[in-house]
Parts: sequence; structure tokens; C-alpha cells
Amino acid sequence: MADELKRGLEGVLVAESDLSYVDGEVGKLVYRGYDIEDLARGASYEEVLYLLWHGSLPTAAELDSFAADLAAEREVNDDVIETVRALADADERPMAALRTATSMLSAYDPDGESDDGESALRQGRRITAKIPTVLAAFERVRQGEEPVAPDPDLSHAGNFLYMLTGTEPDAVSEETFDMALTLHADHGLNASTFTAMVIGSTMADVYSGVTGGIGALSGPLHGGANQDVMEVLHEIDASSKDPVQWVKDVRADGGRIPGFGHRVYKVKDPRAKILEEKLRDLSESSGDTKWLDYTTAIEEYLTDQGLVEKGIAPNVDFYSGSVYDSLGIPVDMYTPIFAMSRVGGWIAHVAEYQEDNRLIRPRARYTGPEDAEFIPLDER
Ligand code: CMC
Repeated sequence: MADELKRGLEGVLVAESDLSYVDGEVGKLVYRGYDIEDLARGASYEEVLYLLWHGSLPTAAELDSFAADLAAEREVNDDVIETVRALADADERPMAALRTATSMLSAYDPDGESDDGESALRQGRRITAKIPTVLAAFERVRQGEEPVAPDPDLSHAGNFLYMLTGTEPDAVSEETFDMALTLHADHGLNASTFTAMVIGSTMADVYSGVTGGIGALSGPLHGGANQDVMEVLHEIDASSKDPVQWVKDVRADGGRIPGFGHRVYKVKDPRAKILEEKLRDLSESSGDTKWLDYTTAIEEYLTDQGLVEKGIAPNVDFYSGSVYDSLGIPVDMYTPIFAMSRVGGWIAHVAEYQEDNRLIRPRARYTGPEDAEFIPLDER
């Protein structure tokens, strides 16, 4: 039994956590006991961060002080902004630019090398506050515009949209974006969170853990899927193909449908349900239902084909892209936005794990040759 191999660590328990619980059989997600639906509709991203990092929902006074402390950390050193400019000029991909800039932020952290839980959490707060500034600056420079300085009077969600466009967002956009941040903040031991935990388990610093998390999140099997979904919708639109025909073609080639399937959920992801509803509201109020029509047609077809019944159901990425599109956010910023939210979960999990740390160090079953005879280089 000890030597049983679990490919992809499927179903393996490696830690205890109070942070989030995913019930994949019924499609339920909770953060510290609170249903994601209640949090998405009732709590701001700042409240959710407080909940994850400090263990309970804040009072109004606690939230005010927490949000002010977070907002006070939004400014980013000029050297980092210069690097962001260089990365944008070099046409770097946004997730790679974010990975580089996040790593560089550590050089300017006043706590230096964190060696206790409190300074690690302070550093985590700084990273969380600065990631939106880095991302918005990168996008502005790519568009040939100057970065917009953060506004400490705006919410985390509102300030990001403001720095991206230079205009304060309307209430619906801010609320929609805030909801998306809340929905993505934590999700058990997903690949990027586990990556951050593995790094944290060596007692490496928070910047290393977050930088690693960004790398893991960038892949198409994880956070990269939200961009893939939107690219598919654009491709369908540009080719004037029927969305169902597009799906049939992909399936005939043995391809995967981005935004479908999940290691834990065997039913529709509860986050997808909330985002679908949001997309419906936004589409109906704008009168533009194109993405809603395409995604609905794809989901209905795959349901008829029995795929959803087999457990390959829409995940969070299937609807998030269309919602971001309605906010005017460029497609290749979707995964960085996922990182901008999930950083809260990475930091919470690393801090929780380090409280009772044990180095994470699994094994592989060795399948290479045995007793190979060594031949010196000049005789080979
Ligand atoms: N389209 C078609 N078939 C699929 C899909 C899909 N999107 N996902 C899984 N399958 C099939 C797969 O072909 C396999 O079939 P078979 O057993 O006949 O070979 C079976 O389902 C199991 O797939 P798996 O890859 O062994 O399962 P997994 O738990 O390793 O996969 C996954 C999870 C998310 C990698 C996979 O569902 C996938 O590639 N989905 C598309 C990418 C995507 O949407 N990723 C976002 C995940 S949710 C947000 C996040 O975590 O970032």
C-alpha cells in the first residue's frame, strides 16, 4: 500500500486545512465554512482576504483598517515599473511578465528576508496590493499609454479597473469584478496553491512561493483555460461557425474543450453557475448576448452528449472570460487576473502550512536501469 502510485497525486491527502473545502460530488465550495455563493453575493474581496488570512469575517472597523493598510501598499517601485515597461516592449506574455515583476518586488520589500509568520503575512499583503499595479501598468504600456497611479480611496477591484482604463469604473463593473476576485480567491490544494506550499515547506520566502504559484497557474490545464475559452469563442465568431459544429470538430479530433472538466468537481462548478448568472444579467442589460448564446449552445450540446453526466462539466473558466470581456479586459489578461485573486489563497495556505511545517518531499518509483557499468569519458 505504501508503494501505491497515485498519478497526479489524485485524491492524496497531504495536509489539514481550515481554509477552503471543495465537495466535488455536489458542487459545493466553502471558504472557512462560508458558502461561496453567500460570499460572492455578499462580501467584498477585501473581506474574503481578511477571512482567509485572519480566520474570521471582519467587523466594519476591522475591514476599514485592513482595507486601508492594503490600499496603502499599492505603489510599486519605479525600477519595477521600468522592468514592466521593458517586458511590455519585448512583447513578453502577461503571466511571464507578472512572474518576473513579482519576483523583482522582493528587492524593495522593507522586511527583507521574512523569518516569522507576521512578517511573511506583511509581505503577502504587499504582494497582493502590488500585483494589480504591476498588471495594469503592463497593459497600459502595451497599449502605448502611461501607467496610472493607484488610488487608495478605491476598492481593490475598483482601483484595478481604474488603473487599467484611467477612468473610475461604474458600480456594476466594480461589483462584477469584485465578485470574480472573490470566486477565484481559494480552492483547496489546486496545482498553483500546492506549488506555493511546496516552496513554503522549505521555509523559502513568500515571494518565492507566489512566483512559483504564478508559474503553475499559467498552464492551460489550470488558470490558462480562461484565456483558451475566450479564444475559442472569438475563433467561432470569426469563422462564423456554429458553436456546436466547432465542438463536434474538436471532439472528432480527440481534443479537449477548454473550460470543461475538473479533477475534483464531478458536477458543474458552483463558481461557473454564479458567473453564468452574472453573464446572463450583463448580456441582457447590454443587449449583446453573443457569448452567452455560444457558451449556452456548447454546454447544452455537451450535456446532450452525456459528457456532463460523465463528470466533465463546466468549470469556473468556462464563463469567467465572457464576463471579463463585458468589462473590456483584454483576453490575455484573464489568467493574470486569476493570479491577482488567487494570490490571497496562496499566501493563506503557505502561512497555515508553515505554522506546523513539514518539508514536502514525495518519492517516485524508480524505473531506470540498475547496475549500469560506468565507462570513463575518454573510453565512451
Ligand atoms: N474535454 C473533453 N474531455 C475531457 C476534458 C475536456 N475538457 N477534460 C477531461 N476529459 C476527459 C479526458 O479525455 C479523459 O478521458 P479518458 O478517460 O477517456 O481518457 C477523462 O476526461 C479524464 O481526464 P483527465 O485528464 O485524466 O482528468 P484530470 O482530472 O487530470 O483533468 C483537467 C482535469 C482540468 C486537467 C481536464 O478536465 C482538462 O484538461 N480540462 C480542460 C482545461 C481546463 O478547463 N482547465 C481548467 C480547470 S478548472 C480551473 C483551474 O483549476 O484553473
